[in-house]
Amino acid sequence: MKRKLLVTSALPYANGSIHLGHLVEYIQTDIWVRFQKMQGHECHYVCADDTHGTPIMLRAEKEGIPPEELIARVWLEHFDDFSAFHVNFDHYGSTNSEETKDFACSIYGKLKAANLIESRTIEQYYDPVKAMFLPDRFIKGECPKCGAKDQYGDNCEVCGAAYTPSELRNPYSAVSGAKPELRESEHYFFRLSDQRCQDFLKEWTTKGTLQPEASNKMQEWLKGALSDWDISRDAPYFGFEIPDAPGKYFYVWLDAPVGYMGSFRKLCSERGIDFDEYWKKGSETELYHFIGKDILYFHALFWPAMLEHAGFRTPTKLFAHGFLTVNGEKMSKSRGTFITARSYVDQIKNTEYLRYYYAAKLNGTMEDIDLNLEDFVAKVNSDLIGKYINIASRCAGFITRYFDGKLLLPDPASEEGRNLLNGAIGSGQHVKEFFEAREYGRAIRDIMAAADKINVDVNDAKPWDIAKEESRRQELHAICSKAMHGFYVLSIWLAPILPGTSNRIAREFFVMDRDFLWDDLKVFPSRINPYQHLMTRLDPKTVEAMVEANKESLKPVEHSPARHAESQVHHQPILDTISIEDFSKIDLRIAKIANAEHVEGAEKLLKLTLDIGTGTRTVFAGIKSAYAPEELVGRHTVMVANLAPRKMKFGVSEGMVLAAGDGKDLFILSPDEGAAAGMKVK
Ligand code: 2FM
Ligand code: ZN
Repeated sequence: MKRKLLVTSALPYANGSIHLGHLVEYIQTDIWVRFQKMQGHECHYVCADDTHGTPIMLRAEKEGIPPEELIARVWLEHFDDFSAFHVNFDHYGSTNSEETKDFACSIYGKLKAANLIESRTIEQYYDPVKAMFLPDRFIKGECPKCGAKDQYGDNCEVCGAAYTPSELRNPYSAVSGAKPELRESEHYFFRLSDQRCQDFLKEWTTKGTLQPEASNKMQEWLKGALSDWDISRDAPYFGFEIPDAPGKYFYVWLDAPVGYMGSFRKLCSERGIDFDEYWKKGSETELYHFIGKDILYFHALFWPAMLEHAGFRTPTKLFAHGFLTVNGEKMSKSRGTFITARSYVDQIKNTEYLRYYYAAKLNGTMEDIDLNLEDFVAKVNSDLIGKYINIASRCAGFITRYFDGKLLLPDPASEEGRNLLNGAIGSGQHVKEFFEAREYGRAIRDIMAAADKINVDVNDAKPWDIAKEESRRQELHAICSKAMHGFYVLSIWLAPILPGTSNRIAREFFVMDRDFLWDDLKVFPSRINPYQHLMTRLDPKTVEAMVEANKESLKPVEHSPARHAESQVHHQPILDTISIEDFSKIDLRIAKIANAEHVEGAEKLLKLTLDIGTGTRTVFAGIKSAYAPEELVGRHTVMVANLAPRKMKFGVSEGMVLAAGDGKDLFILSPDEGAAAGMKVK
């Protein structure tokens, strides 16, 4: 039976880069969607950037650009990252769209008409310098419990206490540093405390829409009466203005899930899909949201209640997953395990390795999953290269050399032939059920067990020996054909996980004119093209380089918000024009700061050891007023490499590093991530 499914992943915020933690969810969803499409179902996968809210507004302001420009830039970055990991959305939109705005306004209108919206005056901290109300995360102060300094307005990172911003001692605004004032403001609330909402949610959260552990958690929350949900924010705010309330904006979490509808609406107009068939109350299509367990509250309570009372269908199921740890610990910027998608692509390149590893670890529960970097290398090399690809690389050559690419088809009349044909479909049934249940780890265990069996058969039969005997061609043909058919079956089973490789295999190797479908298990191919290299072993050095890159790339970022030098932009006149020849006399190079140390007796200098690829240089740089030696070690910068050596009081300086400003507001240059020591700057 052909099913109709609409699938989403959570919308990533447009104020940060995609990292390996995000990718657990997008890879998990993408595998499921590809699996459904391979079954021949009509399955649509939509997502979007989550673009509204205070952090995005402030970041744009800091960069001196309109928020629209910031979110457009981040959108491209996110889209590229997802594409690199083969995450294949049918539509990737933005919550800052007309469609999302229309739905947000109409849902709000319907909730209001149902008497589920109420306005109330609340007291909130206000930054008198910035002239804005402050979200909890932008108020800092001393923890009311343990007294720790510089804690956020909602909880203490030192003792773990949770509190409200008004309980903080000596609060200050994290935006301007000003002492905030409590001010009154009118806010709009979605009345979740209304009996209709409580009754509906009690039923909705217990009818199989949630994983058992999620449902239990919701019951705990639903035990006490739910509080009303504050859905408005005051100007200045980057978001949608509430229709009948000038100066009031929808809180970002109101329009974020509405972005699922907005993005799908765009897809519908592109492809002529009937939007209402998917979203009307009582719809027979299926709607699934893949989310992290941290945002269950929004998706299991607020979102279905909004949909229900605005007259739309509610989700069929929510699939919540756990968090990612790296090497058994929370991802950490200082350890270099807060790994961006981009740095993975730059260093490791093959993104299917990570898809495979995540799949091997994933199941249908909310348990956390661990990326152990050593195990990652071992598993990819032993499973993908050692077991799977190995089959084709060992056997395909004989088929090409001796049999002109033709495969011997299993004979349905013989018992062996029947077993082979039925085996693909029979074991495929288990694999299929595991994919459907998001038990990808179990699917992979079955797939690799089958690969082991094929390899054992090949090892026992030793085709490389048989090939030496002219008289045993028939035998050789049978052994290698069977192995290649095994490889074919494995490739179909692995297609949702390794879409790039398996579809190359379908088209280039098994001579098909389309990507694999699950039903291809029923028809064995009769020929192959010559084997082409498919996958390279994962080199552990690339993994180390990735971790290093994440350590380094963050240093300038952590450093930059602390100091600003806008006040320093003096209007120094531009010097006389020079020719390109003049400029090319300066040999600028990327240098890695291998060491930095104080110089005894020197007031302004640090002694730097700069690695420029071909060797090191000692440079005395007048940057002590702005940098401590330990914040420089490991960073990349730019140096003049052909400046005549200069004898100084403390030694010979063999070049110069480039920096702007002076005194405390001095900034050395950093190249973008990826530049390596010794590269010429031109
Ligand atoms: O937690 C987050 O990153 C949110 N941006 C997720 C939003 S999901 C949905 F509601 F849009
Ligand atoms: Zn505390």
